[in-house]
Amino acid sequence: MANITFSNPNYRDKTVYAVAGSHTETILSIAREYKIPIEFNCGDGECGTCVIKVSSLDEKGRMSSFLTDKEKVVLKQVGKLTAEDIEKAEVSDIPPQWRLACQFIVRDEDILVEY
Ligand code: FES
Repeated sequence: MANITFSNPNYRDKTVYAVAGSHTETILSIAREYKIPIEFNCGDGECGTCVIKVSSLDEKGRMSSFLTDKEKVVLKQVGKLTAEDIEKAEVSDIPPQWRLACQFIVRDEDILVEY
């Protein structure tokens, strides 16, 4: 079970805790289900509007997770991902801090999502 804490400095009193119902849901779909106002536009990994910062709240640390090709391209375009970050993710299983909410599939870990 994944526990997700959504936080935004503009809504300090509105930290929302959510649980992923399956491991096929994106952060964006969970946010929409819980009425969390993560900005988004295309919903398909092409615009970069839905950039989020993901940190671990789990003692084990972040689990690695797959970056789609679209996500790599867009995160690089918006300055949130470097070639070094991609190499760390692909070679050493160290997940990048910034993700696209519409592409990031929740895994079985407790995370903080800043949007
Ligand atoms: Fe466009 Fe996620 S909403 S990249």
